[in-house]
Amino acid sequence: MTPQIDSDGRLRHLLTLDGLPKEMICRMLDRAGQIRDTALGRTQRRHSLDGTTICTLFFEPSTRTRSSFHIAAQRLGADVLNVDASTSSTRKGETARDTLRNLEAMGVRGFVVRHAEDGAVATLAGEAGEGTTLVNAGDGTSAHPTQGLLDALTLRQAKGADFSKLKVLIVGDVKHSRVARSDLHALRALGTGEIRVCGPSALLPDDATLAGCTIGNDFDAMLEGVDAVMMLRLQRERMEEGLVSSLEDYHRQYGLSAQRLSRAAKDAVVLHPGPINRGVEITDEVADGPQSLVLRQVSNGVAIRMAVLEMLLG
Ligand code: CP
Repeated sequence: MTPQIDSDGRLRHLLTLDGLPKEMICRMLDRAGQIRDTALGRTQRRHSLDGTTICTLFFEPSTRTRSSFHIAAQRLGADVLNVDASTSSTRKGETARDTLRNLEAMGVRGFVVRHAEDGAVATLAGEAGEGTTLVNAGDGTSAHPTQGLLDALTLRQAKGADFSKLKVLIVGDVKHSRVARSDLHALRALGTGEIRVCGPSALLPDDATLAGCTIGNDFDAMLEGVDAVMMLRLQRERMEEGLVSSLEDYHRQYGLSAQRLSRAAKDAVVLHPGPINRGVEITDEVADGPQSLVLRQVSNGVAIRMAVLEMLLG
């Protein structure tokens, strides 16, 4: 039993996809599919979270995750409060726990939290009051569960619900990627036929993260016949750490160009969580091309986050 699931089997917080039953993941994907029109603002907002206040509490920058949680909460009827650590009393030394407890005292019931430290959101969940719910919006290199869910939804829409037929390739800095970890948890839970992982050895983890995956450094070879390519952002600080020799060199070996993509299955799709380093891990031609699902991922982010908030707080 993970700490995010109650003794009666109900999801209390969403901290990670690791260990989450396939049935629960599928329920969230199904619900996101059902409410997609509301998520996209095509139909009237729902009222399932009327009277609920949700706070996005971010200790790290974000564009997509924060905005889509904000929109998702509003489209469910909730009141939304955005607290950005860079302009809050965090700057005066207030702890994350005190920040959370003070906002709870104002009647906030749901917190969407991003933090630079592994496990920080789970720690906060353990310190929260009885009726408070937390969603992990990305902690350190550990987990970004709603990104894993929206990526799975995007793949399911493009390729169908039977993941056992799919060959999926994840490319880049897996070692430092919370997105990759959550994608791997989702892909495994959904029974993906083959998961390939490719990147420079210095950026691939050597622990249990890649258990059961086909691992390689030769991008061209790993692309052969795959149905989906999930590109990861190259975190530029890896160059300063000496893990990547130069951006040009990285692009030459691990950049996805249209020519390279032709090695994948003819109808292969390309995903990237954003933000994109154009010309580094992916060319403009691919990022904006017909096989790219990048903006579909972003739209699905609102629907998934609505489904998650509704399941936790509705
Ligand atoms: N994909 C993602 O987490 O993007 P943001 O950092 O902009 O939220």
